Amino acid sequence: MRPKVNEVFIPGAFPKYTYVSRESEEYEETYESRLRYCLNTAGFLTSIVGPSKTGKTVLCEKVIGLPKVVSLTGNDFKDAEDFWITLAKKVRLPLGTAFVHQESLEGEGLAGTKEARTASRSESYGSNKDEVINFFKNNDLVLVIDDFHYATENMQYEIAYQLKDAIRYSFKAIVISLPHRSDDAIRKNGDLSGRLNLVNIEPWTPDELKEIAITGFEELGVTINDSLVTSMAQESLSSPQLMQSNCLNLGLLREDDPNIDLETLNVEILNKTYKRTSLNHLTYQEVARKIKAGPYTRGKTRKSYTTIHNGITADIYELVVKAIAVDPPTVRLSTDEMKQRIDSLIEKAEDKPERKKIVNTIQQIQNIINTSEQMYQVFEYKDEQIYILEPLFLFYLRWGKL
Ligand SMILES: Nc1ncnc2c1ncn2[C@@H]1O[C@H](COP(=O)(O)OP(=O)(O)OP(=O)(O)O)[C@@H](O)[C@H]1O
Ligand SMILES: [Mg+2]
Repeated sequence: MRPKVNEVFIPGAFPKYTYVSRESEEYEETYESRLRYCLNTAGFLTSIVGPSKTGKTVLCEKVIGLPKVVSLTGNDFKDAEDFWITLAKKVRLPLGTAFVHQESLEGEGLAGTKEARTASRSESYGSNKDEVINFFKNNDLVLVIDDFHYATENMQYEIAYQLKDAIRYSFKAIVISLPHRSDDAIRKNGDLSGRLNLVNIEPWTPDELKEIAITGFEELGVTINDSLVTSMAQESLSSPQLMQSNCLNLGLLREDDPNIDLETLNVEILNKTYKRTSLNHLTYQEVARKIKAGPYTRGKTRKSYTTIHNGITADIYELVVKAIAVDPPTVRLSTDEMKQRIDSLIEKAEDKPERKKIVNTIQQIQNIINTSEQMYQVFEYKDEQIYILEPLFLFYLRWGKL
């Protein structure tokens, strides 16, 4: 019996049927064998760094096996709690006296105080830590700390300190973080130098993304034309998650109507697919709106440009957003490319904004981003280039309702 579409394409979890093994240029082997090697190097900590949604977590699950992964995030470690107690709670390991000791301190309202930390620490060094390390070793467990950058700076150094010591006893741990987010506590920590195995995850190539669709539709017994697969890979912008979503939505549309032809280039069905996928990422509507609105104008109105799209008008902020979204989709745009894209959107030659004005607008947008929450960190303007840090945002700009 064939699996169902939603069992084959899984945008939010481990894709059993459509897992793609990728070759890393840097290590000249697959990411799986690189990670396996790292984990088999006793006395070393593994640090994985890669852009958002490139499969860091899924890679760990593949190599370690889901039941053996003990997954925590930077957020889970709190200053007031001993590192080993946090781990023990996670694996539901009842600890000896030291655990009780910390709890009784909590009862006395002393938790989080310096005395409490010293007390629970000095006891935990002998017992908690050994118990947790043994438990992990006896059960072949691997600690995976995701989103390391979410821990406070203090905590990051505390985690690094505890891990540095633990790895000497063959405790297996992986720390995952995003590029552009600080993990200096790990990668630039002198104490860890010579004890660190690095795994740098590269963005996905179109061919690697295509493999998700090829394997998946084959699994479903559906013949699909290469032009459809190529288009989905291009729109998915180096994100395997977007590729999984697009394949899932295309597969579901076809399931609803088996007469839909996937054996030729079917632009109509692709557009429908992308619009559906954009609905999964409605959070970016708010981000797009905030960027389009630009900074507060104190009641002044901005110059309005007439665009080539049925004479619809747009101000400079709206133009920048539109220019990022037009064909071909790309996660990196130079200032000159932005100028060309904006010019080509404007109806009258004499209206075309100066380069300086465009740069200024992009910088203003960067200011808005810098002073907004995590979700808004979608691009970075650096060295005359716009880098789209979040492919889902660009996808939303292209296919979602703004
Ligand atoms: N090797 C792979 N083969 C096929 N699909 C994959 C692969 N890796 C990731 N994906 C798809 O991408 C999704 C996101 O992967 P994952 O959660 O591992 O990324 P991540 O890098 O950990 O993201 P985040 O930065 O949010 O932690 C998965 O749920 C899956 O749909
Ligand atoms: Mg992850």
